[in-house]
Amino acid sequence: MAGMIPQSFINGLVERVDIAEVIGNRVRLKKAGGNQTGLCPFHDEKTPSFHVYPDGHYHCFGCGAHGTTLGFLMEMDGLTFPEAVETLASLVGVEVPREQSDRAPQPETTGLHEVLAEADKRFRGWLRRHAEGPAAAAYLKGRGLAGDVARDYGIGLAPSGWESLKTALAHFDEDKLVAAGLLVKNAEGRIYDRFRARIVFPIRDTRGRVIGFGGRIYDGSGAGGEGPREDEPKYLNSPESPVFRKSEELYGLFEARRAKRHPDSLVVVEGYMDVAGLAAHGYREAVATLGTAVGEAHFKRLFRHVDRLVCCFDGDAAGRAAAWKAVDAAFPTLSARRELRFVFLPEGEDPDTVARRQGAAHFRALVANAVPVGEYFLEYLQRGLDLARVDQRATLCDLALPHIARLPDGSLRSLLVRSLAERAETDAEVLERRLRAPAASQPPQRSGPAQGARKLADNVLHRLVKRPSSFAKLPTAQREQLASAPDMLGEVAQFLAAQPDADTAVLLGRFLGEPAYDQLSELASRPLALEHSEDALRAEFADSVRRLLAASDERQRRALIEQARQSESLEDLRLLRDSAAANATAAQVT
Ligand code: UTP
Ligand code: MN
Repeated sequence: MAGMIPQSFINGLVERVDIAEVIGNRVRLKKAGGNQTGLCPFHDEKTPSFHVYPDGHYHCFGCGAHGTTLGFLMEMDGLTFPEAVETLASLVGVEVPREQSDRAPQPETTGLHEVLAEADKRFRGWLRRHAEGPAAAAYLKGRGLAGDVARDYGIGLAPSGWESLKTALAHFDEDKLVAAGLLVKNAEGRIYDRFRARIVFPIRDTRGRVIGFGGRIYDGSGAGGEGPREDEPKYLNSPESPVFRKSEELYGLFEARRAKRHPDSLVVVEGYMDVAGLAAHGYREAVATLGTAVGEAHFKRLFRHVDRLVCCFDGDAAGRAAAWKAVDAAFPTLSARRELRFVFLPEGEDPDTVARRQGAAHFRALVANAVPVGEYFLEYLQRGLDLARVDQRATLCDLALPHIARLPDGSLRSLLVRSLAERAETDAEVLERRLRAPAASQPPQRSGPAQGARKLADNVLHRLVKRPSSFAKLPTAQREQLASAPDMLGEVAQFLAAQPDADTAVLLGRFLGEPAYDQLSELASRPLALEHSEDALRAEFADSVRRLLAASDERQRRALIEQARQSESLEDLRLLRDSAAANATAAQVT
């Protein structure tokens, strides 16, 4: 993937596709006048308030969701903007053109997918046809991974030779094969196969393209009956490459989504074998990280596809440490709608052994009884504290609040505050106030007045990204002030001032290839607090804008006072104080 997609192409594409056809694939639509209506896929409803208009946009009068065909695909299928464009383009059968951007040079990805796909084909073929295939197949069979699982997960075999793949793919550019991580170039410049005498698991992106491999040693591998190799790591993984980012990718996500397009929930496990082993027992909703702890990037990615996640950990100390890290990584990505729960397995077990020994139903039951993350969080902090003592109850609050502050505002955060208040036998209101006064709940280096303003700016930006049409409804003066802001908010406001009809997708498209894109697309994937009514959301937005602009006024005023003080001009100082008092009264009136 290189460069930016030209805006003219996106506009033309959106015009060419029939929105009713795209949406009609996911939502049952009925003609109503010139439009079509149906049950809104973005909220629960019994009577249709979801309207699709022939000019290419949709609007739900129940929950306020609206946008173009691209926006619909992003929301509905959890696609990124470029993925949505690719999807639409493939519907009408055109290639997506790319402009070379001078702002952000793209890494060299050309051809990597192609060599990875070819390697995948060879590995799968070798499992069936190579002389070493039967031993590998026997190993897989012994672990319950026969026939259909091996096929669905594309499991293959890398033979024991040093140059099996190198020879088979000799018609490709050798540098490409090295860049893709398939061949290794050692210090002496010798080039050979990375995966040797291993069972290989292809790792696919959400579109099903192979982006890397994991390879496991197996009993009976090694030509000449060398037996298992004690000195080698059990698993080898592809190295990072322009198409393979280990900290973001999840093994089995493509396969889980293929088994069920919109799974209700997904379970995050540790290993390739856990995913495959669970699948062998009919449980296809598992994904695994790639030898790393589950982190924020994983949660972001997964929450684009499901609202409910369960993380599986070992029951030992390492498992508990991993779980605590996961709490912190997950908090910024949670919302009232997004649920995260934890399961701790008995010591010495992993999901694969549980399913094998006790059946998938037992594993399902463990998952069903998983602990909500908020509960785990408080239990964890409370361990070792004596809550009969008032000072230790205060300690619990001190420990918990900085973490809670990282949760987005909303009902989940309030729930957790209430639960903390109960345990600490204090007043939830008091805790809420401490949360709102950043200095009290955060480590000192992160405090200061700018924090409040940043939070407000984030709120405003979030709303503008999710509902770009809100911008046009603001009073002119506020629109102008926002557009003159020096940061990203200013740029977004300027764009919306010029393009009042833009929806989320178009707005994101404007920033494609720029550093701001990641933050904006993350905001786009974070739901607005849906439990609030549209009116409440609108009022909240108006309020945030007003407070944000007031806060920046206040900062400018303080800077001026400081200047005046330094020049010891008392007259200026008095004038400024007076104008501040007048401002304060004005703010109360509006
Ligand atoms: P495990 O050792 O738990 O393996 O490592 P597993 O998946 O349960 O496999 P079996 O049951 O022993 O066959 C969990 C994950 O940690 C990474 C791999 O991603 C593995 O799936 N790992 C483990 C490595 O990257 N390298 C290693 O040497 C071991
Ligand atoms: Mn295992």
